Amino acid sequence: MKASRSSSLRLLLLLFGCCGCAAAAHPFRPPPDLDVTPRVTVSINNLLDCRRFGSSSAVNYSTMLLEADGQRLYVGARGAAFALDAADVSAGPPLTIAWEASPEQKLQCLLKGKDNKTECFNHIRFLQRFNSTHLYMCGTHAFRPLCAYVNAEKFAMSPPEEGRDKCPYGPTTGFTGLIVDQELFTASQYEFRSFPDIRRNSPTLKTEDAPTRWLNDANFVSSALVRESLSGSVAGDDDKIYFFFTEGGASGTHGRVPRVARVCKGDRGGHLTLQKRWTSFLKARLVCSLPEYDFHFNALRSVFVMPGETPRDTLFYAIFGLGWKNTKASALCRFSLSEVQEAFQGPYMETQDSGSNWNEYSGKIPDPRPGTCITDATRARGINLSTSLPDDVLNFVRRHPLMSQQVQALDRRPLLFKRTTDYTHVAVTVVQGLDGQAYHVLFMGTDEGWLHKAVHVEGQLHIIEERQLFEQPQPVENVLISVKQRSVYAGAPSGVVQLPLSSCRRYASCYDCILARDPHCAWSGDACVDVWAYADKSTLIQDIQRGRRGCDNTRGDVATRRRSVRVGDDVLLQCELSSNLATPLWTLDGQELHGYGLSSGFRTGTDGLLVIRARRDQSGRYTCYTLENGIRVAVVTYNVSVSLDPPLPPTEDPRRQSIPSPPATPSEGDPSSRMPHSEMLSAKSMEALYLSLITILGSLCVVLTVVLFYLGFCLRVGNQGKYSLRTAAATYPGGKRNPKKRNSSHLELKTISSNGHGVHNGVSMRPYGDIHAGGFLQIVPGEAYTSPNTDNATPPPPAPPLPTAPECNFANGLSATLPNVLRRMNGNSYVLLTQSDGESAAPICPSFADELNRILEKRRRTQLMPRPDESSV
Ligand SMILES: *[C@@H]1O[C@H](CO)[C@@H](O)[C@H](O)[C@H]1NC(C)=O
Ligand SMILES: *[C@@H]1O[C@H](CO)[C@@H](O)[C@H](O)[C@H]1NC(C)=O
Ligand SMILES: *[C@@H]1O[C@H](CO)[C@@H](O)[C@H](O)[C@H]1NC(C)=O
Ligand SMILES: *[C@@H]1O[C@H](CO)[C@@H](O)[C@H](O)[C@H]1NC(C)=O
Repeated sequence: MKASRSSSLRLLLLLFGCCGCAAAAHPFRPPPDLDVTPRVTVSINNLLDCRRFGSSSAVNYSTMLLEADGQRLYVGARGAAFALDAADVSAGPPLTIAWEASPEQKLQCLLKGKDNKTECFNHIRFLQRFNSTHLYMCGTHAFRPLCAYVNAEKFAMSPPEEGRDKCPYGPTTGFTGLIVDQELFTASQYEFRSFPDIRRNSPTLKTEDAPTRWLNDANFVSSALVRESLSGSVAGDDDKIYFFFTEGGASGTHGRVPRVARVCKGDRGGHLTLQKRWTSFLKARLVCSLPEYDFHFNALRSVFVMPGETPRDTLFYAIFGLGWKNTKASALCRFSLSEVQEAFQGPYMETQDSGSNWNEYSGKIPDPRPGTCITDATRARGINLSTSLPDDVLNFVRRHPLMSQQVQALDRRPLLFKRTTDYTHVAVTVVQGLDGQAYHVLFMGTDEGWLHKAVHVEGQLHIIEERQLFEQPQPVENVLISVKQRSVYAGAPSGVVQLPLSSCRRYASCYDCILARDPHCAWSGDACVDVWAYADKSTLIQDIQRGRRGCDNTRGDVATRRRSVRVGDDVLLQCELSSNLATPLWTLDGQELHGYGLSSGFRTGTDGLLVIRARRDQSGRYTCYTLENGIRVAVVTYNVSVSLDPPLPPTEDPRRQSIPSPPATPSEGDPSSRMPHSEMLSAKSMEALYLSLITILGSLCVVLTVVLFYLGFCLRVGNQGKYSLRTAAATYPGGKRNPKKRNSSHLELKTISSNGHGVHNGVSMRPYGDIHAGGFLQIVPGEAYTSPNTDNATPPPPAPPLPTAPECNFANGLSATLPNVLRRMNGNSYVLLTQSDGESAAPICPSFADELNRILEKRRRTQLMPRPDESSV
């Protein structure tokens, strides 16, 4: 009954989705090529070579520092800082600085009205290299920021000093900071209720508040130093620091706008005008939008600075959100530094009434150009420092911080627009492909603790995989890449996770390796290997550009299994596709199976083929192919024989032992002994049997009626009830995180079926053996109780590893495969339902498929969490 509740709940959601234009729905359908699906989903149990660090005494591992030599990973958390071995963050115990706010300070914080569960702690917000021997570290210190030097070698802190001008007061206030040549550049809203500010500590410089406020409620995300003095420019230009933030827009343009601002490193402020203020502050709008919808992404979340060959070739990868409540979505845009520089060379904006109405300034611009750094040209005019800039220039700077030109994303559109996912952080590395091209590989953390790996190929993003980092959903707050350690590090509230940049051995066949399009991986002839670790690169096969070439001459083994079933049984021939981008294709005796509709007696999904009430003429040789990226690869073959007679007794199947067998139900016994047994049932037990049969069939009818009603009314899809039921039931095991719970949910399904004196009435799903090693799921419909035991197939031959086999050394195959099965099943129902639904989306309503996709995605996420309410009936 749990299944019915879950399925009707889902159908209710569908109802809203398709008919109601649910409130959280997206206003449009993004270009499909932008909403990229991760090719492979790796749940936490299947992670390879994962290392973790988390101290029992600290949380919020959000500040991380990895230095060029790549030996140590410094981590700032709440109440402590750690120096971890970057080669293995779990190698302990680490060097630790315990730095908690004093009880008195915490009390003061509480008295200030702050939250003593989150804010009244010492959150370390800043940790960077100061000089060759020391780091500099700042903490919020329960709303009284302090900073301190740290002896890097000993990892010992010197006595703390005032941090009010360098560090925000709270843990969530937007903040970014850099140490450049021992000068500290930071940006934040430093004090409660103060204006946001970009500061340098010494000589002190700030942004201006009057008559024109330079920053308006800015939430800082990131900053970057670009050494433009090294660009070989003959202009003698200065280094610049760029700041990325979201701020309140000018009035009239309600909402917030993403911006980039910059200052010159050598700025000294003005002499009389703009004294102790920046003379080089300029800001411009960043535009990440879908032009065809005139839709702008306004909330900047994370920026990664990708150095180029020269400073001018620097790229910024930026993650944006919608900035709406209750709607998840992320866009990824790229910006080039040269376009940012162009905007700063362009026309200025002006405002008449201090910050509300901005128009392009068309008057005379003083010379030297306001807001530029000191260059050779200005020096030639005797202006060596910003303090010597003429007053008219400084007055102009003071009133014209905003540029008119907007910085457009490269390609004028996002690389990615992903609904249902909130990315929180991005880091990028360059990987040399075997084709000689340099590919940008992105690692993006999500708000639910997943890490996506993607490759950028000619304006398109391909998401290679999504990896689940944490059992408990939590936002990834920081992502760092170490090419030297071949690792990616993610910081989050509960700890630090270290993963290898690639796990090529996960791909078991040539096609799987090629289709992955992972620049780190290539096929060596018998394995998918890490390119960097492989000596003879000339023999390696890789196709990042298209992801389909090179495997023609490789031979893939296709598993063959035998299945004997009785007429009238429902049979699921499992064919699990490891890729979320693949679709299945089935042939029967070489003929493609068409029309998976009801009359055909077949249903297909991405987890397998369902033969409904098998007929004798459905015997034959079934082959499952995976279709992906235009490539068709055989995965598994089943020789199915459908017979009238009771199948032969099963011979010993060792695989059955890999699963804790369900508590003894007679159905697990020998069927040959049961067949006559059923005739010998006493009248009384027959009566009970029929009663329970009727009960079960009755409730099934109710469920089916409800299901059909919804489907018929809303989706105009007939007779999907059985399938939905199956899907709903099948999601239980996957929804459980620990094996014990999974078993209990398994039992719960059993209870339904064991009502009839242990005979398999009702619907029962039993996983047989290790699904991956060739087991299968089988459905025993209620009316077929006379053949209760349907696992009578002759034991399948020891299956060679499927190309789709996951990689992990899990003890029990189920735990590792079920999340995948779960996802497939979702995908499965999606495939089925859309078949009938077609493209009937109303123009304004989100299309049904989109909506379904969103709901299923959401459900998948939530079902990866333990749900206590489901472990009991
Ligand atoms: C927070 O303060 C309240 C009193 O206002 C106190 O009861 C509670 O124990 C404090 N919690 C922590 C974590 O200090
Ligand atoms: C680095 O800075 C610290 C703190 O100011 C100072 O004590 C130390 O001597 C400096 N080290 C070097 C090598 O200059
Ligand atoms: C500016 O610096 C140059 C050398 O870099 C020096 O010759 C000149 O006197 C300086 N001018 C002023 C006004 O300081
Ligand atoms: C710190 O971690 C706790 C849980 O571990 C979380 O609830 C809180 O939101 C985190 N705070 C920040 C600022 O990340």
